[in-house]
Amino acid sequence: MERTFLAIKPDGVQRGLVGTIIQRFEQKGYTLVGLKLMRVSRELAEQHYSEHKDKPFFAGLVNFITSGPVVAMVWEGRGVIANARKLIGATNPLNAEPGTLRGDFAVDVGRNVIHGSDSPENAEREINLWFQTQELVPWEPAFTSWVYEM
Ligand code: GTP
Ligand code: MG
Repeated sequence: MERTFLAIKPDGVQRGLVGTIIQRFEQKGYTLVGLKLMRVSRELAEQHYSEHKDKPFFAGLVNFITSGPVVAMVWEGRGVIANARKLIGATNPLNAEPGTLRGDFAVDVGRNVIHGSDSPENAEREINLWFQTQELVPWEPAFTSWVYEM
């Protein structure tokens, strides 16, 4: 089954949105297979956002993501990579539709509460960067046949 990497950023944790954000993906029907609260090292932050290393906002982005605890997660389900991005909403919360996490809970592009992998390649790269294999817990929820037509 397809997997993606999601991270509740320091603003999401500080603002008490951890439960709300996790609930959104649970209610959609996706399955949580990895979860940890952690401080992000500069090294991890720079690797995670390496595609942006030449952008003017890179230093601020690394400072922000290392500024407080982050909730790192792996979620599983059909179409979860692209669909999690839809549930998260546009990068700039001012452009994010109401009903999306950024549309409902954020204002500033530099404080947009959650990260989601943007492609299958990046999902695999980010899961391997943030989690060790033994930290992931494969399981089958009892509701599977009520979410998926088999
Ligand atoms: P992530 O899920 O965090 O990767 O966001 P994204 O995929 O929607 O956007 P992208 O990967 O292009 O940018 C990564 C992060 O850099 C964003 O979430 C923003 O916090 C920040 N960012 C992107 N563009 C800008 C910008 O123009 N200005 C500022 N200040 N920050 C930006
Ligand atoms: Mg991105």
